[in-house]
Amino acid sequence: MKAEQNELVTRIGPGTACGAVMRHYRQPVALVDEFNPALDPRMAIRPVKAVRVLGQDLVLFRNEQGAFGLLDRDCPHRGADLAYGRNEGNGLRCPFHGWKFDVTGQCTETPAEPVGSTLCQRVRQRNYPLIERSGILFGWFGPEGQTPPPLPAIDAFSAPATHTFAFKGLWHCNWLQAFEVGIDPAHASYLHRFFKDESLEGSYGRQFRGASAGDVQGERGPMSKRPAVPSRFSIYACS
Ligand code: FES
Repeated sequence: MKAEQNELVTRIGPGTACGAVMRHYRQPVALVDEFNPALDPRMAIRPVKAVRVLGQDLVLFRNEQGAFGLLDRDCPHRGADLAYGRNEGNGLRCPFHGWKFDVTGQCTETPAEPVGSTLCQRVRQRNYPLIERSGILFGWFGPEGQTPPPLPAIDAFSAPATHTFAFKGLWHCNWLQAFEVGIDPAHASYLHRFFKDESLEGSYGRQFRGASAGDVQGERGPMSKRPAVPSRFSIYACS
């Protein structure tokens, strides 16, 4: 691949050609577990996270009803970072002058304005629609106002929670490098095995090790079988 072709398919920020294509598909944003106070006690006090998706800086927060909001991170007033905002349960308040936004991005308060001001009714921060599947929040970054496409009905989304898990990792590479290794058939026979597995000769060419590490209801299932073993979907945050 030529350098300019590589640039074309790996640059995915706002205003790039590949970024425009990717914004027509839902993208994983965060795990619901990241907001679980049992796993991260800070979330009991302040369920707010800074996230970066497709080269965009965003803020993700959950209100007291449990709804998530994904907004542009720079305050529409003077650009302060909303990831440092106060989550007041019914909205996120900018730390600079106190403008407050609900999960839809609607401004609900502009406290420094004169009494009776209706300014906040005309202020709206860009919000990105979210949908949750199997513990993963997917965002839609397409043109504002356009209806997001449905997510494909892959097995990891239809299997019960007892048979799925989601995980997230940080890879210091671009999306194409991450994807390329994911579909690389040669590595799976060697990398996704335990040292004590059977000899390699009989398993070369399999996508994963031959069977689950332990019994599931008395059965040792092959890694590709559902629902005997977990389905999975992962988020890879690529730099
Ligand atoms: S910069 Fe956010 S309220 Fe002023």
